[in-house]
Amino acid sequence: MSPAIDYLNSRHALVPARSNERFVRPRLVEVAKPRGERVQAHDGRELYLRGIEPDDVAALKRQFARLSPEDIRRRFLHSMGELPDSLAYRLTHIDPALETAYVLMDETVRPAELRGVGRIFVDRSANNAEFSVLVEPEWTRQGLGALLMQRLVDDCRRRGLSEIWGYVLLENRPMLHLCKELGFVRRLSPDEPGTTLISLQL
Ligand SMILES: CC(C)(COP(=O)(O)OP(=O)(O)OC[C@H]1O[C@@H](n2cnc3c(N)ncnc32)[C@H](O)[C@@H]1OP(=O)(O)O)[C@@H](O)C(=O)NCCC(=O)NCCS
Repeated sequence: MSPAIDYLNSRHALVPARSNERFVRPRLVEVAKPRGERVQAHDGRELYLRGIEPDDVAALKRQFARLSPEDIRRRFLHSMGELPDSLAYRLTHIDPALETAYVLMDETVRPAELRGVGRIFVDRSANNAEFSVLVEPEWTRQGLGALLMQRLVDDCRRRGLSEIWGYVLLENRPMLHLCKELGFVRRLSPDEPGTTLISLQL
């Protein structure tokens, strides 16, 4: 150690702080206020509902990594090992004229995690919209899937659409149950085997 540094160290160790340094206020660390509407799961846990944003891409990818192969197949109607960057980008950069995507953010952890997503894609020529919804396993049976679906239905009504519809795997009892409770009916049997098309007239 150079004599100069040695001198400085010994000075800091021995000389008491000046009076104006002794009462320095702790620096305030700014914590971002959660954005969106606070909603509660049945068990009391809180999440924030808001529209998806381009910055959600990393959270979307982390959520995908927490899903089971079954959840992924039920949501995307086919298997996928990982969420390709191009798709993650596409799902977070929406065109508000044709799409709505709500996310449920868990702000109790850092970084904030995305626990649910519900989205619609509008078909202007048919005046209807296709939906998809996903709640990650640790958060299911808490009323969140129903909440997202209800918000999507409300959004379709606001847009003046006549119908909201989606494909659901026949084995997907939870989703068929949920949609039945919300008044959805099976519209017709599509060509896709193992899949049904459910819809709600608005
Ligand atoms: C389907 C899914 C969205 C349901 O979400 P959720 O948050 O668990 O749904 P809710 O808690 O709002 O459930 C609402 C109602 O749906 C029905 N339901 C939900 N999960 C169910 C299950 N596992 N078994 C039977 N009924 C179920 C129940 O009637 C429930 O009401 P209740 O809990 O008062 O009995 C969720 O399981 C999921 O994301 N699955 C993987 C992706 C997927 O299948 N997406 C749908 C195709 S786009």
